[in-house]
Amino acid sequence: MPSLTPELAQTLQARIRYYRDLGIYDLYRRGEAQPEAVSVIESELVTNSEPEPTIPSRKAVPLPSLPVISADLAVDRSVALRAIQDELDNCTRCPLAFQGRHTIVFGDGNPDARLMFIGEGPGADEDAQGLPFVGRAGQLLNNMITAMGLKRSDVYIANIVKCRPPQNRVPEPEEANTCAPFLFRQIDVIRPEVIVALGSTAATYLLGGKSPLARLRGRIHETRGAKLIVTYHPAYLLRDPSQKKETWKDLQLAMAELGLKAPKSQG
Ligand code: URA
Repeated sequence: MPSLTPELAQTLQARIRYYRDLGIYDLYRRGEAQPEAVSVIESELVTNSEPEPTIPSRKAVPLPSLPVISADLAVDRSVALRAIQDELDNCTRCPLAFQGRHTIVFGDGNPDARLMFIGEGPGADEDAQGLPFVGRAGQLLNNMITAMGLKRSDVYIANIVKCRPPQNRVPEPEEANTCAPFLFRQIDVIRPEVIVALGSTAATYLLGGKSPLARLRGRIHETRGAKLIVTYHPAYLLRDPSQKKETWKDLQLAMAELGLKAPKSQG
């Protein structure tokens, strides 16, 4: 068993900080690669104290049996997202778990996306397929993405809540506040440059407060290190297509932030 030299301690500290930047908080051991050393560094990060002179035994520092993230694995964003998704397996943290949910709709798209779209919560189609925005509103969102000169596979799409609210009602604050931290961790892993909030619920929980949509549109906000642009929800646009023009202005704002040019046909 190699001893914990200052160089090894520094390397491991840097590695664990990197995992935390990716949204991975729970490490546990695989194989025999200096597992105790990892435990020591972890407790150091938590307590910010001097390194322990002795290496604690496995028993002394029990770690939770959460997703396997090996400290010597080349972690990328999809692994980090998978770890968050695994924590949500059969989630029963809020009442939506017991109100007819069939699947937990985690999110979909490019883990390295520069642009994220965030909606309210899954509808019936999303609940059936396990993917966000695959129904009628999703079709319109796909068209919006195409109009921006992008493909759906270029962006990442998620919702404030990951389980379908019955009758597509607005998620209750208890539900949204329970679920949103998982979304925040997804954002922290993906680190998009721009987030487009689709509708009032997404705007409220991403901004941490409620304001009329009209007051939020047309300017750049900030959330979790990303620029946040607020626009209408595609389901609302299906009911009132006259607002599509305004929505296009919001999308152009997002495109300008990303340095994207509209395809020719959009003018
Ligand atoms: N509406 C949303 O807010 N999200 C979806 O995934 C589908 C419809």
